[in-house]
Amino acid sequence: MHDMIKLQHLLHGADYNPEQWLKYPEILSEDLRLMALAGVNVVSVGIFSWASIEPEQGRYTFDWLDCVMDGLHSIGVKAFLATPSSQRPNWVSDKYPEVFRMDERRVRNLHGMRACSCFTSPVYRQLVANINRKLAERYAKHPALMLWHISNEYGLDCHCPLCQSAFQSWLKERYDHNLEKLNDAWWTPFWSHTYTDWRQIESPSPQGEFGSQALALDWKRFVTKQMVSFMKNEIAAVREFSRDVPVTTNLMGTFGGLDYWKFAPEVDVISWDSYPQWHGRGEFDRSGPFGASNYNRDTEGRDWALAADVAFVHDLMRSLKDGQPFLLMESTPSVNCSWVQKQKRPGMHLLSSLQAIAHGSDSVMYFQWRKGRGGIEKFHGAVIDHFASTENRTFRDVAEVGQALKMLAPAAGTRIDAEVAILYDWENRWGIDAACDPRRDGKTDYEQTVRNHYRPFWRMGIACDIVNEDADFAKYKLLVAPMLYMVRPGVGERIEAFVRNGGVLVATYWSGIADESDLCFLNGFPGPLRQTLGLRSEELDALYEGDQNAIVIQPNNPLGLAGEYPARLFCDVIHPEGAETLANYRDDYYAGRAALTCNRFGVGLAYYIAAQSDERFHLDFYSALARELHLKRALETEIPEGVSITRRSDGESDFIFVMNFKPITQSLKLPQPCRNLLGESVVDGTLILGAYGVSVLTTGRE
Ligand code: GLA
Repeated sequence: MHDMIKLQHLLHGADYNPEQWLKYPEILSEDLRLMALAGVNVVSVGIFSWASIEPEQGRYTFDWLDCVMDGLHSIGVKAFLATPSSQRPNWVSDKYPEVFRMDERRVRNLHGMRACSCFTSPVYRQLVANINRKLAERYAKHPALMLWHISNEYGLDCHCPLCQSAFQSWLKERYDHNLEKLNDAWWTPFWSHTYTDWRQIESPSPQGEFGSQALALDWKRFVTKQMVSFMKNEIAAVREFSRDVPVTTNLMGTFGGLDYWKFAPEVDVISWDSYPQWHGRGEFDRSGPFGASNYNRDTEGRDWALAADVAFVHDLMRSLKDGQPFLLMESTPSVNCSWVQKQKRPGMHLLSSLQAIAHGSDSVMYFQWRKGRGGIEKFHGAVIDHFASTENRTFRDVAEVGQALKMLAPAAGTRIDAEVAILYDWENRWGIDAACDPRRDGKTDYEQTVRNHYRPFWRMGIACDIVNEDADFAKYKLLVAPMLYMVRPGVGERIEAFVRNGGVLVATYWSGIADESDLCFLNGFPGPLRQTLGLRSEELDALYEGDQNAIVIQPNNPLGLAGEYPARLFCDVIHPEGAETLANYRDDYYAGRAALTCNRFGVGLAYYIAAQSDERFHLDFYSALARELHLKRALETEIPEGVSITRRSDGESDFIFVMNFKPITQSLKLPQPCRNLLGESVVDGTLILGAYGVSVLTTGRE
């Protein structure tokens, strides 16, 4: 946690929307009583309160918020005070038409919903800065204030004329005011798209330019830059009155529209909103009325596989600020706006909440504290139901988490030490998505591919950081970089140095294809990685779903692998140029050709997995590598499928989270006696975890 906060304990709380209840004073005082019973010590207030604190321009009604802040303080609950920019009041729309977002079809949104403002509009920036200043001026010194919650889930891009002209200006800077440079980088002679004036450049649109992949990439970079600059504008206004209170903004995990690596340096603490669909059946691939999100379900409906995917995002969030603890800002205490609102089965709430802590969060927070009586989210899970009984299962589950977090207080601020880095890079993802080859059916799924390579480490209890291409790789033993399609300038050289100096790299098919402008490398794929990997890729064969090929492991290979594994969807036909072949293809015109290679380079090793394989292959391959490299595990024991183990530590005390994501009892052997922090008992020999059970063990002084 950022040292501005210096947490002595873990945080437990929720989004709190008292502005919806101002006509129900008895409910507001009841809220305070219930917060204490639920073990809540923090709430996020004011996220959607703009209309309630500035009902008309220049008239402020802070009295109700004063009461709320004072009330929270009276019971020792802290506030994350939000800036309200994510939805503007009606009067703003009435007066200032330029603030309306325009979508990619160049259609202006009407007033309504939320997150529908233009982030370039100087008027909108001004109005937001103004309300932020007022809030900061009034509450900077309030004893309940703990953190500024800047906006809410920045997301949608805007294509209005103001954004178009800001985009053109940004491009001028990027290409040194030299249009020829842009034309070269974007390969515009293709289909006679050469620009002769900066004003001809427009953002991608389904009715216009949607074929220029370089344009699509630069647009996404611009949108990230513009959103970050909007956020900085918000923060600067707050900082005029509130210098030492930390700031955060709640991120959306692996949301595809923004590069969160660019947000991280501008906030003091990373926070994110996590909504996995537990107990799903896999057939629903949309998360709800607010759009698709694919980290929140497992296609085969396995809770434990979904848990691994969620763990990946927690690890990403922790890694965004170099391992500093993050905040789980929102999660649901029961259900969210999914297509099927299946309730969490007993145990799952505590388990999934502690999973965030296990991966480096210092909080468990919910959307939301109390269900509203009306509106689109009135059936969304909340700590307090329409009938506000403390006997409700959800309330009891939440109170149980509150208790557990108290017992785990010493874990606050502890860190996770990782020897493995998994490379996940937003620009690379944009490059792959824009290219949409070698399959045009969405199966070139970069995010899922990265998670597939992460999962074996999750299963083995080996900690991973998630890094992007700009990271310092040198501190890791192993760098896993699946589908590194885009290699930005200097990255190939840094990966090469990492391996030369003793690092181990794992790369796959569809790597080293294009540069940061999506221009293909001309010196043979995998471009800048060719020498490090010791091979050349000649052609990538994309297979149909039912097509079968196999990777046949060579006998006596150094990793001790044996047998056959499936090769499916992508088979790279390669020429080893110094790399040793560990496995070959079984069938087709490339039967007998290399399918898995290892290149000795300097004092390091570079593996290349030429074909997409399955979970069994990943587990066997990475288990062998983990053995070879003596990678540290959270606990030296055999881990049953579905159980995950992580370790947080402050150097003196260790907190070992053992989590069972299967609906059956499972057990494992402990290498030494441990104290169970949740049960205050000593566990010796075998640890038994019930269905969706979790234990937190300590071996240190705590
Ligand atoms: C997001 C928002 C919340 C709420 C939840 C519902 O995370 O930040 O305001 O709408 O979704 O799941």
